[in-house]
Amino acid sequence: MEGKTILTGIRVNSEMTLGNFLGALLPMTRLANKYSANNKINIFIPDLHTIISDVDGELQKNLVKEIKYYLAAGLVLNENVHIYRQSYVPAHSELCWILNCVATMGETSRMIQYKEKSHNGDQSTNVGIFDYPILMAADILLYDANYVPVGEDQFQHIELTRDIASRFNNKFGEIFVLPENTENQVKFIESANGAGGVRIRDLQNPEKKMSKSAEAENSKIMMNDDPAKVTKKIMSAQTDSLGKIAFDMFNQPGISNLLQIESLVSGVPLQDVISTWAGESHYGDLKKKVAETVSTYLSDFQAKVAEISDEEVYKILEEGERYANEVANKKLFEVQKAFKLR
Ligand code: TRP
Repeated sequence: MEGKTILTGIRVNSEMTLGNFLGALLPMTRLANKYSANNKINIFIPDLHTIISDVDGELQKNLVKEIKYYLAAGLVLNENVHIYRQSYVPAHSELCWILNCVATMGETSRMIQYKEKSHNGDQSTNVGIFDYPILMAADILLYDANYVPVGEDQFQHIELTRDIASRFNNKFGEIFVLPENTENQVKFIESANGAGGVRIRDLQNPEKKMSKSAEAENSKIMMNDDPAKVTKKIMSAQTDSLGKIAFDMFNQPGISNLLQIESLVSGVPLQDVISTWAGESHYGDLKKKVAETVSTYLSDFQAKVAEISDEEVYKILEEGERYANEVANKKLFEVQKAFKLR
């Protein structure tokens, strides 16, 4: 593959769960490293998306930390890799406004994330939560992005981006490049680690996604957890009483989740992890292995994060933002011309 643009944004939170990391940041890092010799890689911090919910006062600190996380995860920088903050590239907001005049209430109201976050359209919901996917469309379309690795809960937003872009192109000509459809996105993500659109599960309620807001401490692994904590949490993970180790998200979500975590953290393809454990029945052995894999990975990761300075991060951002403004403003100008704004 060459000449493609791969783009993603990951929202900054006070701390990331292992689920966020394995579902988004780590696969993006592996994809970037795999493709950056011959393709463009854009990684940005969607700080404007972050402010749809209360900002905890640590946004800048969190954002710097997230970039350190990419570097600690092994992201290799070269002239094709650009990292930038969304709010430092004003074209994102302006294109969002213009696309607001292309997108419909109907299609935007159908977004599952909006329905969930607004509790089915509660009237006190801020408009940013509704408009979220349109800003996301702008993030993607400004850069002619082909591949947009995201967690599966965001696939619907990429489909919406495609719909908006093709409506725009039908009216004004081929100004936007459509990102690939969900099927191709999944295949692309799989090319990094053998798993597309991964959703790491809550350790105590494996039917649910691992979430930062889960009440039980043992439900989630945080990226700054120490090895003892990690081990305790994994050893107490909920499983089932079937007594066999197999990958079956429906009947054995807890065990499947552990296999998935083992695969993603170690970089061993899921199928290989599954066959290694096939025929085994001692859940405790699997838990011990996963606990070891994850705690070793995390202590190494945390040590690397501690070594990266803020100055290094800001230098990377400044270069990225110079590049991003140049590319984005060019695209925005074409769009403005289409609407006779220029
Ligand atoms: N919505 C994404 C998430 O919650 C973050 C995001 C914002 C994004 N804009 C994007 C991802 C553009 C990919 C492309 O994870």
